[in-house]
Amino acid sequence: MSHGPATPLTAPASGPLTGEAHVPGDKSISHRALILGAMAVGETRITGLLEGQDVLDTGAAMRAFGAQVAKEGDTWVVRGVGVGGLMEPADVIDCGNSGTGVRLLMGAAATHGFAVTYTGDASLRSRPMARVTDPLALFGAQAHGRSGGRLPMTLVGAADPVPVRYATPVPSAQVKSAVLLAGLNAPGETVVVEREATRDHSERMLAGFGAEIGVEDSNEGRVITLVGRPDLSPQTIAVPRDPSSAAFPVCAALIVPGSDVLVPNIGLNPTRAGLFETLVEMGADLTYENPREEGGEPVADLRARFSPDMKGVEVPPARAASMIDEYPVLSVVAANAAGTTVMRGVAELRVKECDRIDAMATGLRACGVEVRDGADWWEVDGRGPCGVAGGATVATHLDHRIAMSFLVAGLGAQSPVTVDDAGPIATSFPIFRALMEALGGTFRG
Ligand code: S3P
Repeated sequence: MSHGPATPLTAPASGPLTGEAHVPGDKSISHRALILGAMAVGETRITGLLEGQDVLDTGAAMRAFGAQVAKEGDTWVVRGVGVGGLMEPADVIDCGNSGTGVRLLMGAAATHGFAVTYTGDASLRSRPMARVTDPLALFGAQAHGRSGGRLPMTLVGAADPVPVRYATPVPSAQVKSAVLLAGLNAPGETVVVEREATRDHSERMLAGFGAEIGVEDSNEGRVITLVGRPDLSPQTIAVPRDPSSAAFPVCAALIVPGSDVLVPNIGLNPTRAGLFETLVEMGADLTYENPREEGGEPVADLRARFSPDMKGVEVPPARAASMIDEYPVLSVVAANAAGTTVMRGVAELRVKECDRIDAMATGLRACGVEVRDGADWWEVDGRGPCGVAGGATVATHLDHRIAMSFLVAGLGAQSPVTVDDAGPIATSFPIFRALMEALGGTFRG
């Protein structure tokens, strides 16, 4: 679903941020819980589901594919139709802003013998889909989209799918997951090989639903083997809180003097925790309290305190996949550290909800920060604690993480930072403003 008129929002410099920040459920896990719940036979019960627009759009899509999806009290209940049981939707599937939603849905439906037309907002309609439709064609599905493999696009599913072995050419959990979801309704073994490990929520959750799935490390990379046509058993899923959302209050606390924030119950799956590792290397006062396991995922409570002694670092390219959504807000922390932070091997940032290197570089420069960038790298020259001038209005390009990153920047800057449109924040973190205000931040708009 597309959102209404642009809603600008301004973040002036903040006093200390203190207290507990209960961030919403994990977006990646929420999408997968709805989709796999719809492909199991019986009732899957989900608590902690992210009720952001991206996930609500995926829930509406699963209804259009024949599953029942409803909220009962605090629990989302999905009554699934079983593997191979998805039905032809009566209308276009609108995934709004969500690349994860559309790519996973394309995968799930690609091995069903009917056609589905997908669309989304202006951001999603500009993003590359060939990365999923190429491997889905190997199953026998056919894609008919706009030039450049863009939405709107009709995917004609394979009535008689064959299993696939596919090495992902880019590090992408969405591509991997699309192939695995398609493999669910193909006979035999579907194999995905990824050179670099990307988030593994699909593998963990498929195993949880009872699919036969194996993961091995080889000299080609991670080899994931899924046996097709399983009976998936419905699950009870407690979605951990999203580390990618936790990143915003954590990074805000690190750059705003006097701050001390606890962010409880955060998913710390190693395929997602790269930002926190990087912040610790920079000298952030960031600790993991009460580490434990919940619902097959490692979780802990994060405590972040103002950290005036942070230094720029070179982020290892091998870590990129585990923090791919966090580079925008890392660049804000980098601007408040001493010295240069170098981020390489991040070409994927150019094809997210917007070109995130360009959006951050342009906005940071307008805030008085020196940034250099190339096709797959960028560097930020830190200005030290509270050294960012701010005083700019920046373009968010329908990208929630760009909007939140610049609002965090404003909380720690000398003059207010305005984002031209805070609307997209609702895709992943609808309570962002209220949560940051409860910690002591203020916004105007
Ligand atoms: C996601 C995978 C990542 C990430 C996105 C969520 C997922 O995208 O950026 O926010 O849930 O699988 P890519 O697969 O394109 O890297």
